[in-house]
Amino acid sequence: MNANEKPPIGVVGVGWVGLVTAACFADVGHPVVAMDIDEAKVETLSSGGALPIHEPGLLDLVERNRQRLRFTTEMTEVLEHCRLLFCCVDTPPTYSGDADLSRVEAVVAALPEGSEHALVMKSTVPAGTGAAIRRSRPGLVYVSCPEFLKEGTAVKDFLEPERVVIGADEGSESAAEMVADAYRPLGGELVMTDVASAEMIKLASNAFLATKISFINEIANVCEGVGADVREVARGMGLDDRIGPKFLQAGIGYGGSCFPKDTQALKQLAGNTGYHFQLLTAVIEVNELQKRRVISKLTKHLGSLAGKRVALLGLAFKPNTDDMREASSLVLAARLQGEGARVAAYDPIAEARAGELLPNVELADTAVEALEGADAAVLVTEWPEFAELDWEELAGRMATPLIVDGRNFLAPERLRAAGFTYEGIGRAPEPARTRTPG
Ligand code: UGA
Repeated sequence: MNANEKPPIGVVGVGWVGLVTAACFADVGHPVVAMDIDEAKVETLSSGGALPIHEPGLLDLVERNRQRLRFTTEMTEVLEHCRLLFCCVDTPPTYSGDADLSRVEAVVAALPEGSEHALVMKSTVPAGTGAAIRRSRPGLVYVSCPEFLKEGTAVKDFLEPERVVIGADEGSESAAEMVADAYRPLGGELVMTDVASAEMIKLASNAFLATKISFINEIANVCEGVGADVREVARGMGLDDRIGPKFLQAGIGYGGSCFPKDTQALKQLAGNTGYHFQLLTAVIEVNELQKRRVISKLTKHLGSLAGKRVALLGLAFKPNTDDMREASSLVLAARLQGEGARVAAYDPIAEARAGELLPNVELADTAVEALEGADAAVLVTEWPEFAELDWEELAGRMATPLIVDGRNFLAPERLRAAGFTYEGIGRAPEPARTRTPG
């Protein structure tokens, strides 16, 4: 390696975080060896063309950096070429709410005793995991480097970080410096700290954002009772620097692979230390109830939902992703079916993933097809194309022009002018006027 060459980087686990990490480090000039146990995935990634996930800009990045980016199923290949190993395997929740660390443990077990490698933990793990790993493997060089990227803007988040958190304890300082060197060209504040604090920064950040969402959702529910508009309230609150405008969009609850899992894991972690994290317990419960509030907005106008056709617009947990993990649509579809409704749905890209999870939902190829003859529409994911629909024409195609806008995404005046009964979240509710006997 000459002085200008960047050191090779190993990435273990090529999921959302792993693939973005691998492609972005390759893009800034590191040779990258990315390993996954899933042969089919490695084969697809190596042969080019499609990616296993939908993430704007990522395919371009992978294609552009093919020369520096190698995919393999062999851990030995990673170990042979790279000293820094970024661990990006998933840590799903277990039945108890604890994080399942078996994949992380398998990566640790694959490191030869006394090896020179540095394990850089990107996977979200409970605080204390780094210390436990080092107790089980004395001498292991270990750095915590939690990831803060968001699906849908992951490439930008990685390449232009606001902050990079790097935690290391005694004996791992030089590896922490190597990690800092890898991130320095990207800008963003480097937070050099100890391992346990780095782990907590990640969990606390996600828990705080989830709290902000549940808070504004509860404010929205109160707004409905007092005739206020939560969007106005959030705007007025957000102008206070101490509060800020972000993550104050009321809706039908947060989903995805991170907030639900990480809030549970932090609650569980606190419980395991003997502390009842009361606030977080409420945040989680509020989120669960928020997904279900759509039902009462529908029954208010339709009476019983038995036999009614309800069209869900959007299924993914947020726009610009096909990720269905913990999506509010899953709970909503099941609840609607529980009420006896027939559920149709349309999502621009999540259909393939949704098909496996929603076997009894009629998946339409277009929004118009889903809405045809429907008694109600529920906007679940704020895909931009839903604002472009010809709502004036659609009012005539639905059996009842009723819409519950679960993301406050559409303009109520326009929908009402088109003949719709419009219900948002935290906005002055409409009097029940299209109610038919159940
Ligand atoms: C989240 C964090 O934002 C990232 O910083 C973190 O790295 C990531 O988890 C992770 O731990 O890996 P992500 O799950 O991709 O990222 O998505 P977000 O954009 O944060 O949205 C999460 C959910 O909250 C979505 O369902 C979204 O609709 C909902 N949300 C978000 C609201 O309901 N209201 C808001 O104001 C903002």
